[in-house]
Amino acid sequence: MEVTLRLLRYNPEVDDEPHYQDFVLEAEPNDRVLDLLHHVKWHDDPTVTYRSSCEHGICGSDAMRINGVNMLACKALVRQLGNEITVEPLLGMPVIKDMIVDMEPFWDHYRSVMPFLVNEEIPQEGERLQSQSARARYDDTTKCILCAACTTSCPSYWADDEYVGPAAIVQAHRFIFDDRDTAAAERLAIMNEQFGVWRCRTIFNCTTACPKEIKVTKAIAEVKKAINTGRLD
Ligand code: FES
Repeated sequence: MEVTLRLLRYNPEVDDEPHYQDFVLEAEPNDRVLDLLHHVKWHDDPTVTYRSSCEHGICGSDAMRINGVNMLACKALVRQLGNEITVEPLLGMPVIKDMIVDMEPFWDHYRSVMPFLVNEEIPQEGERLQSQSARARYDDTTKCILCAACTTSCPSYWADDEYVGPAAIVQAHRFIFDDRDTAAAERLAIMNEQFGVWRCRTIFNCTTACPKEIKVTKAIAEVKKAINTGRLD
């Protein structure tokens, strides 16, 4: 099938404003948008710029807006999108070039929630064991690949990028509800700050955007409930 791939191009060294550029190419229905980007870069215009690494939905490096929805280019199939496909960089982040955005503000929010296990106690012997049910408590939020699709689909984040954003709250959730961790109160205090969890207006864009199907809005609600009740059940 013939596909028109419309790319929002921006090179700060030569462009005053972003502009769209169309490429017409032959594609198979099961081709991914990433395959189309590779084809354009390798055969038509080597200056087309985007990130990718694993190409199998694991590393999270190729999140972008595809036909207006945040997706991973390596998981978005032509047959799901039709023969007119528009690709734009993630919203709400500074664009460096074409589909590449500056992720540093995203990493600042990520780092702010202490995304690591805190426990000063040395286990008596062997590993720090955990029951299956305790592990299951935060299983969903372990699936995050930090692609930023959720945070950059959130109108609250677009309105104010000081908001810590859904991805950072998902990371906080992953440790708050881990019964081996001893810093839940500290993380909940961070979540309770001005630009923490209460900026979420339960819009659900994050849940729709997540390529790993994490129930992001539910995780945010659980963090809100833990702040209000002081309980982690
Ligand atoms: S390239 Fe790694 S998730 Fe798409």
